[in-house]
Amino acid sequence: MYREFFGLKEKPFNVTSDPNFLFLSHIHKEALSHLLYGIKEKKGFLEITGEIGAGKTTLCRALLSRLDKNTKTAFIFNSNLPELQLLQSILEDFGITVIRKNKVSLFKQLNNFLIEEMSHGNNVVLIIDEAQNIKTRVLEEIRMLSNLETDKEKLFQIILVGQPELKNKLDSPALKQLRQRIAVRFHISPLEKGEVEKYIYHRLTVAGSKGDIRFPEDSIEKIYSFSGGIPRIINMVCDKSLLAAYVMETRDVTLPIIEKSINELEGATVR
Ligand SMILES: Nc1ncnc2c1ncn2[C@@H]1O[C@H](COP(=O)(O)OP(=O)(O)OP(=O)(O)O)[C@@H](O)[C@H]1O
Ligand SMILES: [Mg+2]
Repeated sequence: MYREFFGLKEKPFNVTSDPNFLFLSHIHKEALSHLLYGIKEKKGFLEITGEIGAGKTTLCRALLSRLDKNTKTAFIFNSNLPELQLLQSILEDFGITVIRKNKVSLFKQLNNFLIEEMSHGNNVVLIIDEAQNIKTRVLEEIRMLSNLETDKEKLFQIILVGQPELKNKLDSPALKQLRQRIAVRFHISPLEKGEVEKYIYHRLTVAGSKGDIRFPEDSIEKIYSFSGGIPRIINMVCDKSLLAAYVMETRDVTLPIIEKSINELEGATVR
């Protein structure tokens, strides 16, 4: 609605995980390089955790866009599935046509796929988002997938991504074997205070802003203290505030505008 008024190509603060808007904060940059390193060096299991709305899914999508054609990927975002269905959706996401829907056959097909890809010099990466929802037993099955390896290297890089509960889950005694195989464990913390302003202007620029939309320093301070640096919350506040600024026909997103938007958001959560 406010897009035309501000001369923007698209809405700058959508809450979708569009990788085109990726802002490489120091923590996102570090997470991305850990992932790229783990994949390149065929480290097997990798784990990424982060608070709700910290940017995990966005980071995964950005990672996918940075991998070359010799890396075959599957991205599972609905991980709360029974074991067989999860296996099946992994195969299908790799583009494998499932022949028989039983465990032995699914494992065999996956193994053949991995060996085939290896023979072409390709790397295979599986990303499982929302992995905190996976049942312990299914996580154990996923560990079995990582047994598909040659003497020399891991055929398969598996990235488990999830909210902080994932970390607790993986620390449970039942998953000791899996935990021992995780080569990289990285936690995405929220944006730092000094990064919030850069984040906001980055998203505005990607959306087509020529720099005439202003968030004064006290507005930024307020956004930081309310959001704790969580990108999704920043987006919610900024989106609401831009709408309010549009209604007032101003390009200055002042502190009162921010405060009003925050009050409305808080009201919305209480209701
Ligand atoms: N580094 C970033 N650069 C640009 N936008 C980001 C970044 N991190 C998060 N966002 C934005 O914040 C919102 C939430 O991000 P995302 O969905 O990736 O979080 P999440 O950690 O996967 O959340 P959840 O725990 O709910 O799955 C999205 O709109 C996303 O575009
Ligand atoms: Mg997510």
